[in-house]
Amino acid sequence: MQVIILRSADEIGQYAADIILSGVTDGSISVLGVATGSSPLPVYRALESRWVPELAGLTAFALDEYVGLAPDHPESYHSVIDREVTRPLRLDPARVHVPDGSATDPEQACVDYERAIEEAGGVDLQILGIGSTGHIGFNEPTSSLSSRTRIKTLTPETRRDNARFFPSLDEVPLHCVTQGLGTIMDARRVLLVAQGAGKARAVAQAVEGPLSSMCPGSVLQLHPDATILLDEDAASELTLTDYYRFVFENRPAWQRP
Ligand code: GLP
Repeated sequence: MQVIILRSADEIGQYAADIILSGVTDGSISVLGVATGSSPLPVYRALESRWVPELAGLTAFALDEYVGLAPDHPESYHSVIDREVTRPLRLDPARVHVPDGSATDPEQACVDYERAIEEAGGVDLQILGIGSTGHIGFNEPTSSLSSRTRIKTLTPETRRDNARFFPSLDEVPLHCVTQGLGTIMDARRVLLVAQGAGKARAVAQAVEGPLSSMCPGSVLQLHPDATILLDEDAASELTLTDYYRFVFENRPAWQRP
């Protein structure tokens, strides 16, 4: 796990864009895993401002979707991904996949989503945020560390966190469909971004805490190629910050994006 502490959300966006653009132009990234939430927005903005034609050839898979919101609801992840990713990065909408939260057979839809990822050759790089509960995707605490795409129930804390996107808390769905932790772990590389003090505890538990389903993000400790991009506030509860800075300052040339 490579932990990189940067000065601002903008620097995080630019650094993530360096990694993604280098993979997209050298051909090592053709399938991108995309995340919703506020955290990855600086990454998408940086990619938009440094757009290269190769971005338009990407296939993308989103992590999750609410159950019970129509795809054209402005806060469905179908809509959010279309607004924040597909259009600004000029992706082909036919190659942008979001789990189906309105399926009449939800279990089959989950199986189909897993198959679609597999048929695309798997995710080359997965962008992740982290929730205040330590969730990645919508894998809430006690999610199986080897779970696949499935329906989950949101925690009250996550519903409160996400209420800012809805007219009232009551309108935040109770259920979601999310790639499992096992699905996310199959991505060849993962890039987690987090900003702000509200994420400090979840980040510290994910990076330095015990491997535990109580903090689903801690499963990334088992990933062979995980990069964690943090601002100072999100890094504020880590204990080894001096070491992470030392590692970054002395990183070998091959580790630079
Ligand atoms: C959301 C999403 C996650 C996201 C997380 C944090 O509910 N399902 O994919 O990483 O919660 O969101 P934010 O980046 O807005 O803090």
